Amino acid sequence: MTEFKSVIVPTRPFDDQKPGTSGLRKRVTVFQQQNYTENFVQAILNSLGDDLQGSVLVLGGDGRYYVKDAAKLIIRICAANGVKKLIVGQHGIFSTPAVSNLIRKRNTSGGIILTASHNPGGPDKDFGIKFNTDNGGPAPDYVTAEIFNITVGLESYNIVPDLECDIDTQGVYTYIVDGNEFNVEVVDSVADYVGLMKEIFDFDSLRELLKGSEGRKPFKILIDSMNGVTGPYVRQIFVNELGADESSIVNTKPLEDFGGLHPDPNLTYAVQLVDAMKEGIHDFGAAFDGDGDRNMILGKKAFFVTPSDSLAVLGAHLHHIPYFKITGIKGFARSMPTAGAIDRVASATGIDFYEVPTGWKFFGSLMDADQLSLCGEESFGTGSDHIREKDGIWAALAWLQVIACEKKGVEELLVSHWKKFGRNFFTRYDYENCPADNCAYMLHKLEQIVTSPVYIGTQIIHRNKSYVVKQADNFCYEDPIDGSLTPKQGIRLLFEDGSRIIVRLSGTGSSGATVRIYVDSYEKDERLILKDAQVCHYTFMWVV
Ligand code: G6P
Ligand code: ZN
Repeated sequence: MTEFKSVIVPTRPFDDQKPGTSGLRKRVTVFQQQNYTENFVQAILNSLGDDLQGSVLVLGGDGRYYVKDAAKLIIRICAANGVKKLIVGQHGIFSTPAVSNLIRKRNTSGGIILTASHNPGGPDKDFGIKFNTDNGGPAPDYVTAEIFNITVGLESYNIVPDLECDIDTQGVYTYIVDGNEFNVEVVDSVADYVGLMKEIFDFDSLRELLKGSEGRKPFKILIDSMNGVTGPYVRQIFVNELGADESSIVNTKPLEDFGGLHPDPNLTYAVQLVDAMKEGIHDFGAAFDGDGDRNMILGKKAFFVTPSDSLAVLGAHLHHIPYFKITGIKGFARSMPTAGAIDRVASATGIDFYEVPTGWKFFGSLMDADQLSLCGEESFGTGSDHIREKDGIWAALAWLQVIACEKKGVEELLVSHWKKFGRNFFTRYDYENCPADNCAYMLHKLEQIVTSPVYIGTQIIHRNKSYVVKQADNFCYEDPIDGSLTPKQGIRLLFEDGSRIIVRLSGTGSSGATVRIYVDSYEKDERLILKDAQVCHYTFMWVV
C-alpha cells in the first residue's frame, strides 16, 4: 500500500466566508480562487475540535459544476487532518436528504454537502459548501459562527496533494497517511435513501394507486427533477419500484448546469411541469430543486398547492403514513412566515405546535428532543423527523400515500380541507438585489413604528373587511428545548382574526439584500374560500 505524507500549506484568511442559512454560497469563480475552498474546508474540520481525529464524515453534492473538483480536494484535505473515513456518493452525488439519512444511519460526526440548492449551476453560476452535524441537520448558528471565526484567522491548511481516489467506482479505498489508515468508501448514492422510503411508506398501496385497480383508473403522475440530483432517486423509486412508466419522469439526468434550468420548484421556474400539467392528462405533478430538499405539488390541470397548505393537508392525514403509525405524531411546526394553516390542524387535533424562525435547523432541535414529527416552510420545504433536512421526494410520496388512502384527488383534498378548517390565503413578494444598508435601516424604522404602543388596535379596512392590529413585533424565538434566544427574525403584524403581514430580510441571497413581504389572511366563509390569493392580497398590502 502506498504511503502518503500530508503537507502544511501557508494561506491568508478570506474575510467573506460567513456561512448563511444553508452554508457558504458564492459564485463558482469565488470558490476557484487560490486556497478559497481549501480554507473553508479546513475551517469546517477545525470546528470539530477533539472530534476530528478518527472521525467519519459523509461527502456528496447535487452534481452541479465544481462538485467533483471540490469533492476530490475535500478528500485530500480530510486525509491530511486525521479523518478516519469518508463515505462518498458515487460520482460525488448525494441529495441533501440522502446525506442527512447517511449521517444518521452510519452514526458519523457529520457531513459536507456540495450544493447551492435551488440556485443555477455552471462555471459562472453558483456553488456552495454546507456542513451538517451529527444529528444529520444543518449546522446550528453557534457552529457556523465558530467556522466563520476560524476562517478569519486561518494561516494554513493541511492536504495530501498527491492522493487520488476514483469516486466514479464503488468500493473501499484504503490509504496510509502519516502512518495512519485513511479510508474512502464510495457508495451507491441512491440505495440507502430508497431503503428508508420503503420503510416509511406502503409501497404496495402506492403501486396499486399508480397502476389502477378494479373500478379505479390508473393515477397518472408527472415528476420533474429539473436536471438536479433527484433524477436517479426518482427513477429508482417511481419507475423501478412503483411501476410508473418512463414518461412519468422528466429531466432526470443530473447536469452540471441543470441544462440551463433554474432548479427551483415553483410556478415561475418549474414552468415546464406547470404547462404539461395544464393539459389535464396527469392527476399529480411534483418538482424538486437542485439538491432534492424542496418540492412543489400540483394537482390535475396544474392546480397549485401552496407549501403552507401542503403542510396542513399532510398534517391532517398523517396517520395514513405507516411510519407515523409506529412513531406516533409528536408535534407540528412551521417557520414564522409560513401561513398558519397547520396551526388550525394542530388546535383541532390537540397536537403540539411550534413556530420557529426561517431555517430548517430550528426544527432539528425539536425533533432531537422527540417533540416534532411534521414541519414545513413557505419556501417549498416539507419534511418529517425521518431525517433532519426537508425532503422533496418524501413530500411527493406522502401526498401519494394520502391520496391512495383517502381516495380523493389533490384539488378535492384541498377543498374539503378548506371547508373544514377555513383557508389561509398566502402570497409572498420578493424585492431582490437591494442595497443592504438601506434595507437594514428600513427594517429598523419599521420596527420602531410598529412597536410603538399606539400601533396596537390600528384598524385597516380592506374590501369591507376590517383588520385590527393585535400584536406587532420583531420576532424573537426562544428555543423550548435549550432556552436559547434567536432575536430579530422579522417584523410581524398580527391581526385579530389571525391574518398576518411579515417583513424580513432573506438569509440566502448571494448579492445585495432581498426583502420579503409575506401576507397571510384567513377566511372561513365557505363562499369565499375558492378565490385567487393574488387578487385578495394585492390591494390589502398597499392599504397597510
Ligand atoms: C433555505 C433553507 C430553508 C429556508 C430558506 C429561506 O432554503 O434551507 O430552511 O426556509 O432557505 O430562505 P430566505 O432566502 O427566505 O432566507
Ligand atoms: Zn435545496
